[in-house]
Amino acid sequence: MEDAGLRCGGLEMARCVSLADYEALACSRLDANALAYFEGGAADELTLRWNREAFDRLCLLPRVLASRALREPGTATRCRLFGRELAHPIIVAPVAYQCLAHPEGERAVAMGAGAQDAMMVLSSLSSTDMAEAAEAGPTCRWFQLYVQPSRAATAALVARAERAGYDLLMLTVDAPVNGIRDREAKAGFRLPPGIGAVNLAGLPQSPPIALPEGASAVLDGYMSFAPTWEDVAWLQSITRLPIVLKGIVSPDDAARAADLGVAGIVVSNHGGRTLDTVPASISILPDVVARVAGRLPILIDGGIRRGTDVLKALALGADAVLVGRPVVHGLTVAGALGVSHVLRLLRDEFEVAMALTGCDTLDQIVPRLVLG
Ligand code: FNR
Ligand code: LAC
Repeated sequence: MEDAGLRCGGLEMARCVSLADYEALACSRLDANALAYFEGGAADELTLRWNREAFDRLCLLPRVLASRALREPGTATRCRLFGRELAHPIIVAPVAYQCLAHPEGERAVAMGAGAQDAMMVLSSLSSTDMAEAAEAGPTCRWFQLYVQPSRAATAALVARAERAGYDLLMLTVDAPVNGIRDREAKAGFRLPPGIGAVNLAGLPQSPPIALPEGASAVLDGYMSFAPTWEDVAWLQSITRLPIVLKGIVSPDDAARAADLGVAGIVVSNHGGRTLDTVPASISILPDVVARVAGRLPILIDGGIRRGTDVLKALALGADAVLVGRPVVHGLTVAGALGVSHVLRLLRDEFEVAMALTGCDTLDQIVPRLVLG
């Protein structure tokens, strides 16, 4: 049965020539529960839609007779980020509960990412033990942190990540509560038995949250441990790992992050899953870049589905991009092989986009290539 499943996944993979093909196939495979979780956004899903539409509205204006890229294959996309040499600037975004998409979950994603030399960020809400995920692939070394209900619990989680070999913390700052998830509510979304946030088990107990009478247990209960700028400074004081803030949309917040000396920021609206009607990530990138470029690396995610999207993001000043749902689509269709193929497609498309815009190196991907 297992072999038949693999062959089937392999055959279907062969028919996928783009990330959109993987998305269509994955959506036909996921059950209604998982589909609502992975594909959905917040409320009316406007931000989710805008993330894509904003990329499509940007046009490319290539230069001709300029590129030597084809004479030195494989070297064009190299870059350096957070002290690492990277083969390319495409990173696997943190996505919770990957075992909902495939029994191998985060381990398969780590394998697929490793095969494509893509750094992977493991979610705090990983459904796989963080040490096992790190063992499954050499690029699964960055850990996404959700601040826990007490500093003792957060410190213990950071210590676990350090012990498991993670060498960077990506602190998510845009989701102190879950967004309004209409799609999940309609599907009656729930985690099936056996899938959960295994890395949070056994953290030091937090004091019970005392809510004032009449307060909303959902909102105020969670908001009471929403991270603050003071928590970022505290985090810097308890770890030597570089800290990257994920979920920045305001240039003022980007400047504050730079003032605090964090290692980097991710311009992100959480894939349209938190506050609906926040602008598309790519639309706000230029303002953030104008404010803090040169002070710290700027990453971006949300809606990246083509190599040309990667090129547009870099042209507008990003140092690297993260992809979320497409990796889940590859995972759903064919496990680690599917993840690897999705990332390969994106890498290949990006290299072709560079060659066709006359760029031999990432430095040559400049704003004048994009007409907005
Ligand atoms: C996410 N994202 C996310 N981010 C995070 O910091 N921690 C997490 O646990 C999760 N979990 C998660 C689950 C699912 C199902 C999705 C789709 C997304 C957000 C993610 O890291 C990233 O910001 C977006 O997915 C990027 O948008 P695209 O590439 O999915 O369009
Ligand atoms: C989400 C949370 C887990 O987007 O970040 O579902």
